[in-house]
Parts: sequence; C-alpha cells; structure tokens
Amino acid sequence: MSALIILFLRDDDPVVSAIRRGDVKAVRDLAASAPHSLMRENKDGWTPLHNAAYCGEPDCMKTLLNGLVDKRTLQEQTALLFAVSCEHLSCARCLLEAGADPDISSKNKETPLYKACELENVDMVSLVLSYGATVNQRCGQGWTALHEAVSKNNTEICEMLLRAGATINPPNIYSITPLTVAAQRGQLKVLCYLIGKATNCGLLPLHIAAQNGHHDVISLNHKCICVYLLSILCHFHPHTVYRIVSLLVPVTSRARLRHSWISPLHLAAEHNRHTVAAVLLKTGADVNATLSHSHSIQYADRRTTALFFAVASGGTKTAEVLLKAGASLSLDPVDPLLMAVRQGSVSTVSLLMENGADINANIPSYPTTFPGVIALCMNNIPLLKCLLDNGCNPLACFTCAYGSALHPPSPRVTQFCEWLSTSAVCNWAGPIIDLLLEHVGHVQLCARLTELLDSQDEWLAVKRKSMSPRPLLHLCRLRIRTQLGRNRLKSLTSLPLPDRLIRYLSLTTAAHTHTVVRGQVQF
Ligand SMILES: *[C@@H]1O[C@H](CO)[C@@H](O)[C@H](O)[C@H]1NC(C)=O
Ligand SMILES: *[C@@H]1O[C@H](CO)[C@@H](O)[C@H](O)[C@H]1NC(C)=O
Repeated sequence: MSALIILFLRDDDPVVSAIRRGDVKAVRDLAASAPHSLMRENKDGWTPLHNAAYCGEPDCMKTLLNGLVDKRTLQEQTALLFAVSCEHLSCARCLLEAGADPDISSKNKETPLYKACELENVDMVSLVLSYGATVNQRCGQGWTALHEAVSKNNTEICEMLLRAGATINPPNIYSITPLTVAAQRGQLKVLCYLIGKATNCGLLPLHIAAQNGHHDVISLNHKCICVYLLSILCHFHPHTVYRIVSLLVPVTSRARLRHSWISPLHLAAEHNRHTVAAVLLKTGADVNATLSHSHSIQYADRRTTALFFAVASGGTKTAEVLLKAGASLSLDPVDPLLMAVRQGSVSTVSLLMENGADINANIPSYPTTFPGVIALCMNNIPLLKCLLDNGCNPLACFTCAYGSALHPPSPRVTQFCEWLSTSAVCNWAGPIIDLLLEHVGHVQLCARLTELLDSQDEWLAVKRKSMSPRPLLHLCRLRIRTQLGRNRLKSLTSLPLPDRLIRYLSLTTAAHTHTVVRGQVQF
C-alpha cells in the first residue's frame, strides 16, 4: 500500500490533488467544469473515488458518487475496500449508503468484512454486516471472516459474526475449521465460546496434529476433537482444562469416541491429568474401559485400562481418582501393582494396596519362587519396607532348592538368591537381606546368599544376625503381627494401643539412603 500511496501522491491529476488537500469546493468546481475528469483512472486503475476512500475524505467523496461506486482497480479493489482497509468509517458508510456492494473481493480474495475482522475494527464489522455482507464468504485459502476473527482471538467480533449467521464448521481448503484455529493457537476464551455454540465438533484434521507434533494422533482415522484437545491441553492450567473439558464432553459424539482407539479417559490418565479424569468420570466415562486388542499389543506390557496408564506414567493422583470411581485392578495382563513397584513409587504402591491390590502378583514374563514385587523394587529399601509392612511375605526369599549344595546354572524359575546375585543388585545384597531378616524368624541362608554376604566386610553383621538365635522380642513381635493380620497392620497407628507398643510392633528400622536402581525386568 505504501508504494501505491507514493504513486498517487505524485499524481498530477487536478481532481486527485484537490481530494488530497481535502478541498471540497475545488472538487465540486472540477466536477461541474470537466465531469469526465471524475472518471479518469491512473495507471493502477485508481479513480478519484478510490483516492477519496483511501484518504478518508467523505465530503469530497459525495461529489464523486456517480454510479461508479463499485469500480475496481487493476488489483480488483473497490473504494469500499480502501475505506475499510484505511479504517475510514464515514467513507465506508457513505459508500454503502450509495449502494456499494460489500461482497466484492480483491485479487487477494479479501472482502471488506474480512479486512474489518483482520483489523479488529468492531464498528466497521458492524457497519459492513448491517449492509448485508455475506458472512460465510470464502476469502484467501478458503478462510472465512470467522477464521480471521478467531485467529485474532477476538470474541466480540466472533459473536457479531455468529449472530449474523457465520457457520462454525466451514473448513478452509486444508480443512481447518475456526475451532481448530482456536485450538491450535491455544485461544481459550474464543475456543470456549465457539464450543459453547457448536453442536458438533467435527473430525480432527490429521495434518494439524502432525504440525503440532501429535504423532500418536496421525495414525488414526477416527478421532474426535475432544481427544485431540485433551492431548494439547496438557500444557494449560488445571482450572482451564476443567472448563474446556466440561464444555467438550456434551458436544463430543459418543459414536466417534467408540471408534477412536483410545478414550479421553485413557489420554487423561496417560498425561496424568487428574482433573480431566474427574470431569470425564463425572460425565459418564467408563472407568473400566479397555483398549482394543490391536492397540494394547502395541505396548510390551499389553496395558488396557486407564488405571494402568495412570500408574505407568507415575500419576498417583489420577490413579486415586480412578480407583475412587471403582476402577478394576484385574483387567490388565500385568498387575498395576507390579508397574507401580517398577516405577519405584511408594505412594502409588500404598494407594493400590489400600485398594486391595494383590501383593503376591506374579510377573508374567519373569517367574520367581519369591514375591515378584521384591524383584521389581530392586534396591529401593523404603519401597521394600513398604511392601513388607503391608504383608508381602519374605519367607520364600530364604527357601532355596539347593541349600548349602552347589547351585546349578540357569533354572527356569528364578530363586531369590539367583536374582540377588545379578550384577544389578548384588552390591545391595547386605541391606536387602538385613531388611528381610527383620520380617522373618529363624532362617537358614543358602550357600549363595552366604557367599554374597561374605563379599563385603561391612555385611558381616548381617551374616552374624542370620546365624545367631533371633531375640525373643523380635520373635514375639513377628508372632503378634501375624496374629493381627494384614488389614489391621495397615492401620497400626489407629489401633487402641499405647504408643510404645505401636512403635515396637511397627518395625521401624533406619531407612538406608542410597541411589535407587530402577526395575530392569521387562513385562
Ligand atoms: C485471548 O484473549 C483473552 C482475552 O479475551 C486473553 O486472556 C488471552 O490471553 C488471549 N489469548 C492469546 C493466546 O492471545
Ligand atoms: C469396574 O470393574 C470392577 C471390578 O470388576 C467393578 O467392581 C466395578 O463396579 C466396575 N466399575 C464400573 C463403574 O463399572
């Protein structure tokens, strides 16, 4: 435009010069003496009317409105488009009153309405609409005025356009709807507004997901925008997410959800969004929904439930929400508790056990003669203690098929001594055996465990502990604990017993602090 303005300012046409000066009288005189001069175009096809619209001279303009109100320049621009583009409201009104067509678009496919939206000029939008501009007209790349208003994050203009009949779902040539523009740019206010107005979210244009790096979405044919939004919403404040999801749920098609490979609840769990999970559950999501077989086999552990997703991504809070809603602990091939132990999360492990998880669950791919959870918690002493306090029975760790004899190599089922000899944990054999001894009476260490304890001088005390008779105090404690049973042990502190007795019963050994080696067993 600036190149053009220089061109026309140099124009030595007397009418144009008079317009530029805002000299209404001179324009009138010229109109009377040389009417043909009012039609003269410059080399870009600009008439004096275009100049008046461009300069914002409504009074000069009145003299020039002589039936050529919709005359276009070589770029197909009308005087109205200039008046709108330069935000001269009274010129635009003057042209519209004189019958200017508001729907003529330029070579760039811009209409006056589109331009007014781009400039976020509310008065101009209102004026152009009041003269009947076609609200859903396609502009460049199939973009509508609503696309533009949404991209400008202007709710007020969106409202005006919708009142004038704008459709929420007109896709552009790349099938991007205004809704996806808002979602893509994270414009929540507009997004919420549009969602509130929309009756149908429409399908997710897959390439948008690609642009935003949501590659998991791309492989899918049936995807609802709800699911898509959930995945991008992970960056927003929980309160905002709550609001959006509450709006999304009623406008999401259930049929589409059934056809999508993963439910919003699974996604919320995977991304550890407990607020989202809570809304979805409140609005009727099935807490026990499972992934289809064809998709669960894409995970080595063949996970199927939202609960497993939550546990696998370390979402204790999300797991809690799901369990409160009645999530089943037995639908996944691998017990969720095993996953929580492998993740090393004491809080998730405690949560699952409070909800009745099976502490004796086996690792399907790694059969052991001792509790699988012990193998998975590696050298994580606080976690091991949590498991033992909650009723994990360590006796099997000390029953070895070979005893003091030579241990033959590679058995099919792994024994405790064999597991503890592996390079990943053998450096913590002492503290692990020490803790286990606190939970058993008299036991006989096999040749291999003895060998392990002999490998480091500071473990001599542990070996001595295992060989000497256990104190009566310790044996009594074990006996009382057995009598109390697992459920009462869980709530030991709330039992009507003196503090000293509770301390005696609760086996408080000093927690060892060291770097924890994560579970290496693959499911
Ligand atoms: C959109 O506008 C709202 C106010 O209407 C503002 O709070 C928000 O930050 C804007 N969003 C973006 C992405 O500019
Ligand atoms: C989920 O499954 C569990 C265990 O099978 C069942 O007790 C619970 O009622 C189910 N929850 C819902 C909401 O269907």
